[in-house]
Amino acid sequence: MNDLYKEQTEDEGDDRPTDPQERLRSINEPLLAWYRENARDLPWRRDPSAYRVWISEIMLQQTRVEAAKPYFDRFVEELPDVHSLALAQEERVMKLWEGLGYYSRARNLQKAAKMIEEEYGGQIPDRFEDLCRLPGIGSYTAGAVASIAYGKKRPAVDGNVLRVLSRILADDQDVNRPEAKRKAETLLLSTMPDQECGSFNQALFEIGALICVPNGRPRCGDCPVCSLCLAHRQGREEELPVRTSPKPRRIEEKTVFLIRADGRTAIRKRPDQGLLASLYEFPAADGHLSEEEARRFFDGHFGGEIRAIKYAGKVRHIFSHIEWNMIGYLVETDRIPAGFMPAEPGELSGKYPLPGAFSRYISFLTGKS
Ligand code: ADE
Repeated sequence: MNDLYKEQTEDEGDDRPTDPQERLRSINEPLLAWYRENARDLPWRRDPSAYRVWISEIMLQQTRVEAAKPYFDRFVEELPDVHSLALAQEERVMKLWEGLGYYSRARNLQKAAKMIEEEYGGQIPDRFEDLCRLPGIGSYTAGAVASIAYGKKRPAVDGNVLRVLSRILADDQDVNRPEAKRKAETLLLSTMPDQECGSFNQALFEIGALICVPNGRPRCGDCPVCSLCLAHRQGREEELPVRTSPKPRRIEEKTVFLIRADGRTAIRKRPDQGLLASLYEFPAADGHLSEEEARRFFDGHFGGEIRAIKYAGKVRHIFSHIEWNMIGYLVETDRIPAGFMPAEPGELSGKYPLPGAFSRYISFLTGKS
């Protein structure tokens, strides 16, 4: 390295690594030692079979560790292995996923389970390339399963790991670009330890979750690799990672009709493609309708006698690219409109998979909040 550059970027006489590969190699030991002492006791870590690691990693792409725990426990209790998942009713799988969002992930879990049954005799493959061929499994999940369940030397790079690496290496590359992930995977593959690969990957997740946090100030004083972190040395840990802002979400306004006849509420199944595919929904109109407009819409679209109408409140639900701003009306009527099916209160919460977006309206209907 050119001496002038070295003087500008490193303290003189400092023998800490300057090359990204060397710097990353130097975190292996302290990171593993820290993980042995500080790993959280999480349900999927108690018996890290490939099935449990896979289910947990897909859930953790969707939600935080604390929120994932009860979902994970319920899921593996009811569907404890590939075989039971492959054979389950699709609606049961959706029900177990309800509230986590991104239902295509749950549908892909089941597709992959069927493929594992047919092509791998029910055994989740241990080769990274085979794992990547399964629906819903990309390089992150394949790396996590291969390393944590099978001890294979494969990195598992998600947004949290990218944040940690961009700080350790003081890397200004935009982490939202796909090259950033590929570069990190290549780098880690060449530097991660040969042993304890699963622990190494989980140590990076753990540092990202507990120390090198995304919002707010990272807790560098507690970090086992603080002395090896270039961003910390440069005082730039809060400026990194660099990320371009995503496109703004499209906002959709809706008026939801909770149409109830004889205590049962009108629902229908959504189309099997697109947002919230195959889940159930309440009828709705575009835009926010006043009570008067809602009455007119009801007469024009649903028919039946309106016995009472009551405002059911406002709900905002955020998906990755869309935001629903909803208002709702409970309409007491004499019959369920054509094209809809009646659901008992218990069926709204216990039988039919309705997206989390409607959970406040379900509570409104069932009297539970
Ligand atoms: N985040 C992503 N994967 C994780 C795991 N296996 N444990 C804890 N946090 C995680």
